[in-house]
Order: sequence, then C-alpha cells, then structure tokens
Amino acid sequence: MTNSKPILVIGATGKVGSRVARRLADAQLPHRAVSRATSPAFDWQEPTSWAPAMEGMHTAFVSFVPDLAMPGAADIIERFAATAKTSGLRKLVLLSGRGEHGAELSEDRLRNSGLDFTVIRASWFNQNFDEGLLQPAILAGKLQIAAGDKREPFVDANDIADVAVAALLDDGHNGKTYEVTGPRLMTFADAVREISAASGLSITYAPLSVEDYHAVMVSEFGKDLADLVASICDELFDGRNERLGDGVQQVLGRAPRDFSDYVRSAVASGAWQQAA
Ligand SMILES: NC(=O)c1ccc[n+]([C@@H]2O[C@H](COP(=O)([O-])OP(=O)(O)OC[C@H]3O[C@@H](n4cnc5c(N)ncnc54)[C@H](OP(=O)(O)O)[C@@H]3O)[C@@H](O)[C@H]2O)c1
Repeated sequence: MTNSKPILVIGATGKVGSRVARRLADAQLPHRAVSRATSPAFDWQEPTSWAPAMEGMHTAFVSFVPDLAMPGAADIIERFAATAKTSGLRKLVLLSGRGEHGAELSEDRLRNSGLDFTVIRASWFNQNFDEGLLQPAILAGKLQIAAGDKREPFVDANDIADVAVAALLDDGHNGKTYEVTGPRLMTFADAVREISAASGLSITYAPLSVEDYHAVMVSEFGKDLADLVASICDELFDGRNERLGDGVQQVLGRAPRDFSDYVRSAVASGAWQQAA
C-alpha cells in the first residue's frame, strides 16, 4: 500500500538524509526535513525538540548521529520511538549499520516499539570519501585507517536513499530488514587506487593499528569522535562484513551502483578539486 502522508526526514542535510529529502521534494510529497539548523529544530541531544518536529507527521526517516554504535544509543532510540508513538507517528525507517552490536540493540528497541518499521542496514558509504569523514585525508593525499586489507562493499548514498524512499512510501516493506551494500568487495587500498586514477591525485593508503589510528583521529577530530570511530573499526574490520548484501536488488529490482561510477561522477562534480 502506498503512503502519501507527511514524512519527517531526520538528518536532512546529511549524506543520506539530504538525498531522501530531495527525492520527496522532487516528487512533491508532503514532508518536513529537519536537523539542528532548521525550524523546528531537531537535536538528538535535546529530547524536548523531538515532539515539535514530529507534529503532524505520519512516518519518519531516522538517521541517528553520530552512530548507533555509540554507547547509550539504544536507550535514545527507545525514548525517541516512544515519543514518536505518543506524537502520532505510525512508522519509522531506520538507517542502521552492518555488523555493529550497538546498532543491533537499537534495531531491537525499534522492533519492540509497537510502531511499523523498516531497518536499512548499510555498509560504508561511497560518499565518506568526498562528503564525509575520509574527505580531508583524500584531499591531503594520505588515507590512514584501521581497516587493514579487509574488504568492504562500499554502497552509494543515492542507492540507500532510493531504498529508504521506497520503504517510506510502500507499507509492503514494513517489518523488513534490508542489508544494502555496493556490488563489489573492495579494500580501502582498491578504493584509493580508483580515486587516484580517476582524479589524477596522488593518494596513498596506510593501514594503521587501532591504537595508532585512534591517536591520528584524536589530533584531527578530538577524543570523542576518535573513541567512537576507532572502536567501530576495531569491531567491524575483522572480516565479518566481507560479504555482499542484496537489499538494493530486493527493494529496487536493480543492481547497486558500482564504486567506479561513483568516482567518475564525484570527479566530474569537482569533489576532489581542492587538492589539485
Ligand atoms: N557513513 C557511513 O559509512 C555509514 C554506514 C552505515 C550506517 N551509517 C549510519 O548513518 C547515520 C548517519 O551517518 P552519516 O555519516 O550519514 O551522517 P551525516 O551524513 O554526516 O549526517 C549528519 C546529519 O545529522 C545532522 N546532525 C548532526 N548532529 C545532530 C544532532 N545532534 N541532532 C540532530 N541532527 C544532527 C546534521 O545536520 P545539522 O548539523 O544541521 O544538525 C546532518 O543533517 C549514522 O547513524 C550512521 O551510523 C553510516
């Protein structure tokens, strides 16, 4: 059944949220896109901001920051879902991560909330390289991360947004959990090689121990984010995610976008020109 009731988009300036909001706007579907900068504002750290943002909404796309792996995230999701229920929302579409114990705890709280739901478990985003955490390293020509030679099926934020919009609009996806990944297992060295070749930039990849990566992150991003990202790398890059998911195929009936296609369009858009 297709739902055309008002949709709340949380994290609406983020990598996936912005694409979800754009798709809903292009289709002229009723929605409210929120972040800390909008009016009404939505702030995960300020539970009193949640209900005003939810007023009049039926369904929500939920992108939690900084990450569902964060200690205490599941309690926040449980409280958020309870607020959603009392505010009259009927369904939540949660952007989650693959292989993260903390994310699975949050998913469980959502499943037990009494609301309709869809869970979208995504692999690492392509857009981390040009819109996110890894962009400064790409521009500096040296990517250091505690990922060793483990392979990750990087997924495109556009594919995740397409899956999310389908889940928001079609109740046939209620109760489902989809693993959305790209079509190819790649090491971070492979990714850097492709970006270098297509952009003309000279970029090296240095796999670090979790301890060394933590030290680099502290100096670049501060202790809180360093603690979180280093612990995510420690948990995830043990080989558990070296497999493809089929969520894009299941929901959209087509193959996911390949990393090379993403790199070509990022180069064409000038994403990595700053360092040229
Ligand atoms: N990146 C990945 O590879 C990856 C992979 C799998 C799953 N995920 C999941 O995807 C989710 C989003 O991650 P992301 O990397 O895509 O984030 P992102 O694109 O950087 O999204 C940030 C968004 O959240 C908003 N925001 C920041 N702090 C906020 C706060 N305290 N309260 C409310 N909104 C806030 C930002 O807008 P304002 O600054 O205007 O508030 C922005 O709209 C996370 O739950 C993550 O676990 C990410």
